[in-house]
Amino acid sequence: MGFKITEKVTWVGKTDWGLRTFHGGEYSTHRGSSYNAYLVRDKKTVLIDTVWQPFAKEFIDELKKEIDLNEIDYIVANHGEIDHSGALPELMKLIPNTPIYCTANGVKSLKGHYHQDWNFVTVKTGDVLDIGESKLTFIEARMLHWPDTMFTYMSGENILFSNDGFGQHLAAEPMFNDLVDQAELFQEAMKYYANILTPFSTFVAKKVEEVLSLNLPLDMICPSHGIIWRKDPAQIVKKYLEWANNYQENQITIIYDSMWHGTRRMAEYILEGIKEADKDVTVKIYNADHTDKNDILTEVFKSKAVLVGSPTINKGLSYAVMGLLEMMRGLSFKNKKGAGFGAYGWSGESAKIISDELARAGFTVVSEPIKELWNPDEEALNRCKEFGKNFVEKIK
Ligand code: FEO
Repeated sequence: MGFKITEKVTWVGKTDWGLRTFHGGEYSTHRGSSYNAYLVRDKKTVLIDTVWQPFAKEFIDELKKEIDLNEIDYIVANHGEIDHSGALPELMKLIPNTPIYCTANGVKSLKGHYHQDWNFVTVKTGDVLDIGESKLTFIEARMLHWPDTMFTYMSGENILFSNDGFGQHLAAEPMFNDLVDQAELFQEAMKYYANILTPFSTFVAKKVEEVLSLNLPLDMICPSHGIIWRKDPAQIVKKYLEWANNYQENQITIIYDSMWHGTRRMAEYILEGIKEADKDVTVKIYNADHTDKNDILTEVFKSKAVLVGSPTINKGLSYAVMGLLEMMRGLSFKNKKGAGFGAYGWSGESAKIISDELARAGFTVVSEPIKELWNPDEEALNRCKEFGKNFVEKIK
């Protein structure tokens, strides 16, 4: 069911309450998500984005309740990824000649996904579509988060349709920022930024500055996932500027996996050392195998430093720790420090491998890794505590 956002704009998307993973299994969605599409009615009628393919039929059935599909003059595809373009194949069977406004990269992406030669109209930053009293201005937003992404700004209503930017995987009712739990909202917004936008922070900062420099009146930001920012929409813009600028809090995160609790005990004594050296720093410990990977990565995003530990398994690392290090590499965190640790019984390669992987992921490795043989005894645990103390000194 659609709902009106303003007199001229109606939300016609799909709330996916049951979604628990996204991008295959790459992203956990504990609170579901939504695929936001918007119907803009002025002298001309415009559909902005659609929904994920499994909901295509539902989307079209609901859209028909809002409007005779033949009255849609234009479609705007802000981004070609399937969660927003997935209903186009079904829709275009019904209104095949409707122009689709998107970037040149958007055409590549949509043709690549669907192999259809629809009536594409390519646009670039500053191009304007006059729809009556309002105008739609297109702003390319390359790498936020794909090369094809763009924003669409609607004058008169002063709405920025920002696609993935400023979004969150959060199913909510009602869908307005002033009516939802603020802790949940900002947790999901940060998780989204940390896990999807971190590698593109330079582009984010530049694009946000560019949009701000246009001095456009902004009453609302309507992203393609999650809630609509209608109360003080600038607050999420400010957050993005903070997050894009090598964000960190006074936090150290310890991530480990353990076969027989040796590496776990090392982690806990490292924490003891950190707390002795710095009573103010927040320290969190996560078992990589038992904790959601995207939640851990959100904690890494918040941290000034990380310590990563794994037992040595087959001359390497545990599956969970290695997977997480690979994700940390992909996210290209900046300005963070780290070190490795691990218990072992025979060959003992893990701590050194972690150091190397942290360096490869762009972390400044400040300490030689620490490894302890078998089940760490009192002496070994004291060494871990010292290691924690020294780590605090080294990250100052
Ligand atoms: Fe929500 Fe990049 O798609």
